[in-house]
Amino acid sequence: MWAIVGGSGLNRLAERWETIDDGDTPYGRASAPVQRARVGRRAVLFLARHGQPHRIAPHRVNYRANLFALARAGATAVIATNAVGGISRHMQTGDIVVPHQLIDYTWGREHTFMDETRLEHVDFTAPYDERLRARILAASAGTVAHARAVYACTQGPRLESAAEIERLERDGNDIVGMTGMPEAGLARELGLAYASVCLVVNRAAGKAPGVLTNDAIMRVATEGMAKVVELLGRVASGCPD
Ligand code: HPA
Repeated sequence: MWAIVGGSGLNRLAERWETIDDGDTPYGRASAPVQRARVGRRAVLFLARHGQPHRIAPHRVNYRANLFALARAGATAVIATNAVGGISRHMQTGDIVVPHQLIDYTWGREHTFMDETRLEHVDFTAPYDERLRARILAASAGTVAHARAVYACTQGPRLESAAEIERLERDGNDIVGMTGMPEAGLARELGLAYASVCLVVNRAAGKAPGVLTNDAIMRVATEGMAKVVELLGRVASGCPD
């Protein structure tokens, strides 16, 4: 079964849903219970990364509990939605981006399921599942503006300085967000296919005049996610359960 992790602007997937896992795990509580809802013609699992309502900051999200609860509820593939800032010139506000690579700049987050009982160095050469990415791109119908991008995951919750964004750009990043990791790595450890659909909700710090406001970012995220949900509906409808 497919799962969707809803990021900023996507706290509810559908009007009607059923709760199928309470989110209480050996790693603590997930951000929200796991729901089953319809998107397009398919039933999918849904978990609101920041809680319902939105209240959990990126560095406080219990990524391990979220992924564990989704896997326990029967997820085999996860499509994450992430609001991001645009770093490269062509990553403009409102664009939908399906990244193919990432660089992790986060620290201090519970980022692995490995412990004394299991130690395995999972391959992460391609952090996003290429088959899942291909399915998303095939269903795009022109809604995906960028089929490749490098995602920088910063710690947050503050936004970056202009110099930090310049450094991220020199590192080869195209977009920046705060929630892509450790989520992608944990999914890999659990053997879940994982891909991300990002929505550019602002030009990154120093890339546009003026200051960034939380209200503006959340407004663009909420408005733009309608387009993302439409895309997810097309992806889900085109794929077997
Ligand atoms: N930086 C980091 N995370 C973000 C941004 C940003 O500019 N916009 C949305 N999430």
